[in-house]
Amino acid sequence: MPPLIIAHRGDSAHVPENTLAAFAAALEEGADLVEFDVQLTKDGQVVVIHDATVDRTTTGRGRVRDLTLAEIRVLSAGYPSRFADTHRGERVPSLGEALAMLKDRARVMVEIKPDAVTDDAEGGIEARAVAEVRKAGMEKDVALLSFSRRALLRCRKLAPAIVRGHLFQKAEPGEVLAGAREVASELVMPEKHMLSDELRDRAREAGLKLATWVVDDPEELRRLARFDLYGVASNRPGVMLDAIREEE
Ligand code: G3P
Ligand code: CA
Repeated sequence: MPPLIIAHRGDSAHVPENTLAAFAAALEEGADLVEFDVQLTKDGQVVVIHDATVDRTTTGRGRVRDLTLAEIRVLSAGYPSRFADTHRGERVPSLGEALAMLKDRARVMVEIKPDAVTDDAEGGIEARAVAEVRKAGMEKDVALLSFSRRALLRCRKLAPAIVRGHLFQKAEPGEVLAGAREVASELVMPEKHMLSDELRDRAREAGLKLATWVVDDPEELRRLARFDLYGVASNRPGVMLDAIREEE
């Protein structure tokens, strides 16, 4: 079975990342899953943005946690340094908006960024993200991802039935397996350079799904086939899907 193609931050090579336009483009390309990142605003709203600050991808400046949703919503999320003003009408979506847009159209991976995780177990980003997923009625269509074990443990407690995916940037296979066990995740997502035969075999033995990121080159996708991946996140989901179709 070829891997599922996960649109990483949407169709982010072609449209500003983590915007509704990027998600629409990913759906258009036929992506199986859409991945995006979430942070928490000063007034406790979960918003779809990768960085801890708005500086890189919007027309504003400052930390997301120091800005209210209203202050963020006046900014363009059109990633002007990369896309000039082509997408200047895009706004930073709230998690609720992003879920509403994707509901019944794709499954969704919501990545809780570690810099948004605080000591607030009850009112922090995990609780608020879970509440939004429930409000959208998408418990079965969403996976909650994080590098943060603390966040994943909270998600487990708050919503054991929502799938969790443990992300890893650099770790030995034993650590990956132990991390997945601790948070009871059914999915592990090591960065692609971590993939090995040992990790594949141990994940398989443990009944874990294995996914990775970011793969934008069809040749690389072919090379990764031996790892029997459940999913591959790409900034160019359409190109990856075309490559898979060509192989069939
Ligand atoms: O899906 C995992 C991947 O998105 C993690 O890295 O920095 O792109 O959020 P990053
Ligand atoms: Ca991410």
